[in-house]
Amino acid sequence: MIAVRVAGYQDWRARARDLLQADTAPAELVWEDATDTQVSLEGIFSPAEPGAQSARIGVPKSFLPLAEAAACHRDPNRWTILYRTLWRLTHGEHELLEIDVDDDVSALRTMDKAVRRDIHKMHAFVRFRRTLTAAGEHYVAWHRPDHLIVERATPFFARRFGDMHWTILTPDRSATWDTEKLRFGPGVPAPQEPTEDILEELWRAYYASIFNPARLKIKAMKTEMPVRHWRTLPEAELIPQLISQASKRTGAMMQEQKRSAIDFVPADHSPNALREAAKGCQGCDLFRFATQTVFGVGKQPARLMMVGEQPGDSEDIQGLPFVGPAGKLLDRALEQAGIDRAEVYVTNAVKHFKFTQEGKRRIHQKPRGVEIAACKPWLEAELDAVKPELIVCLGATASQAVFGRAVKIGEERGHITSHHSGARVMITIHPSALLRMPDAEQKEKEFEHLVADLRSAKNHLKL
Ligand code: URA
Ligand code: SF4
Repeated sequence: MIAVRVAGYQDWRARARDLLQADTAPAELVWEDATDTQVSLEGIFSPAEPGAQSARIGVPKSFLPLAEAAACHRDPNRWTILYRTLWRLTHGEHELLEIDVDDDVSALRTMDKAVRRDIHKMHAFVRFRRTLTAAGEHYVAWHRPDHLIVERATPFFARRFGDMHWTILTPDRSATWDTEKLRFGPGVPAPQEPTEDILEELWRAYYASIFNPARLKIKAMKTEMPVRHWRTLPEAELIPQLISQASKRTGAMMQEQKRSAIDFVPADHSPNALREAAKGCQGCDLFRFATQTVFGVGKQPARLMMVGEQPGDSEDIQGLPFVGPAGKLLDRALEQAGIDRAEVYVTNAVKHFKFTQEGKRRIHQKPRGVEIAACKPWLEAELDAVKPELIVCLGATASQAVFGRAVKIGEERGHITSHHSGARVMITIHPSALLRMPDAEQKEKEFEHLVADLRSAKNHLKL
């Protein structure tokens, strides 16, 4: 007998393939579950291609999704059943999966069904709670899935809540989304179903563990934090940073209603009504530091609407979008593309300048997903007022605002796609990105690319 310890699907895949190639029969093996690790969605065996000479193992196409799902099941026998099924499929029973009454097939199908149901349940029942951390706003949820589904179930939340920072804690594994990347970390054992308070404690510790993986000073932590829920938590998951921040944390994590511009947007979407109302917006904290709201300007309605990121230093002072260095560059690009700026409505995803003060200088800071989301009702109202045929997103922030998800400029620029408003959308680079390029030649090339994108926007509209 050979004992094989498997930590997740990838691991099983690799071992199963080797064992199969070494012609190791299922009866010679004892599969053990070493898993607190999760499965991955990567494909395993290639589907059989008739006549293909391949070193890969040919299995029916439907085995792949079945095996992937079954691997997420908690049944410790799943590896055994999977390997036996694989063995049988490759040893004369190629049609095995069609025999529903077969014990192995039926076991796999039952697991598959349970896992799918569990994923649906997670999608339906996860409820986020808003917290404030030192790094900003973060939504957190606790869920106890029946099976090991975190990696399979959470991309759904990344699509749905693409512009929020969130973490879902589960006993097996936790998932964190930072508006760009989904990361998986260790689980958080909880002795009972967490109430709101316990959730917050779990979250605090987990937060610290992600952002500050320094070694834990358990004693200090115990004096600073309520430990009644921590008995089962492995040391490594608890964080010292958290402890040093413990005195601040009550303030920092205070609960607030989710804020946005929605409460300030008037029902009347006429240009003047919007502009006037936006002056008093307090939909997020950015209004506190900036000089004034910088609302969009230009023709209304307009066939072309351009969306930037947020006002810069000059825009904040003058109260108009794209009047500083990035604006000058944009003007030059528009001119070369043959677009008359007077025909365009120009605005920003975020209407207040976000910056840090360094001496006399105000240094631009990228708006966070929550700020972009908070400000989005203004953009929606502008879309309604301007009714553009084409929206040009300048850079990542504009794209995130318009699409409601993180966008890779390099991959998606230049394409013309549809927007829910009925307009078409195109993504291009932000002119400020050019200003930051140190290499003159590259700058020039990028400028030409920007002009080319604007020209194709113009051609699209047959301007
Ligand atoms: N950058 C932007 O995105 N918008 C402006 O208005 C100015 C600079
Ligand atoms: Fe309102 Fe947008 Fe300014 Fe925030 S940035 S206060 S949501 S206008």
